[in-house]
Amino acid sequence: MMTQDELKQAVAQAAIQYVVENEIVGVGTGSTANFFIDELAKIKHKIKGAVASSDATAERLRGHGIKVFDLNEITSMPVYIDGADEITAQGAMIKGGGAALTREKIVASVAGKFICIADGSKLVATLGKFPLPVEVIPMGQAVVARQLNAIGGDARVRVKDGVPMLTDNGNVIIDVHGLQIKDPSTLEAEINNIVGVVTVGLFARHGANVCLLGTAEGVKTLIF
Ligand code: A5P
Repeated sequence: MMTQDELKQAVAQAAIQYVVENEIVGVGTGSTANFFIDELAKIKHKIKGAVASSDATAERLRGHGIKVFDLNEITSMPVYIDGADEITAQGAMIKGGGAALTREKIVASVAGKFICIADGSKLVATLGKFPLPVEVIPMGQAVVARQLNAIGGDARVRVKDGVPMLTDNGNVIIDVHGLQIKDPSTLEAEINNIVGVVTVGLFARHGANVCLLGTAEGVKTLIF
């Protein structure tokens, strides 16, 4: 039986074949993305560099001697490679468990393809068991929470060490519990429309193009 970390390691390795030589690669955030960064380090002489989706990822990339570009210097990149908290068989995802959803969504929007790397436990029939992260401007936190409750969720401000956790952008995260997301694209648009919301961690309108899923039978490739 492979451990969850071994499954993450396997998909991180498999993702290397999607990295395009002499180009810039977009790099996600989280434990699976960290395995990918460590694999990327082995072929770093073959790439131009990377764009990072969080301060933590930028630090890890630089630690391996991989050049990190500012997204504002880049107009396109072939692939963005990142994990997910949940993914459906249609390629819609919940992301933001690591609070990096906004930068992840921005970097992914510049990439030609989103390659999702995930262990098999992340594949779900319906999104929402994992609380949906929403990044919110701090002064709007109460009003946004009320509106998220009104769409049927249980909105809770993410807390760390007894105080609201702040993202790399200085905002708060509201985790919406208890949703059963039947129509991810519609809900993504609806939550994006709430004033005070910076980003919702639903990646459906621009979902994954490929998912490398780590299972006991090996890495499965889902193409959407
Ligand atoms: C970070 O904000 C998230 O979107 C991550 O991609 C997600 O939480 C997956 O993380 P793991 O690879 O650690 O499960």
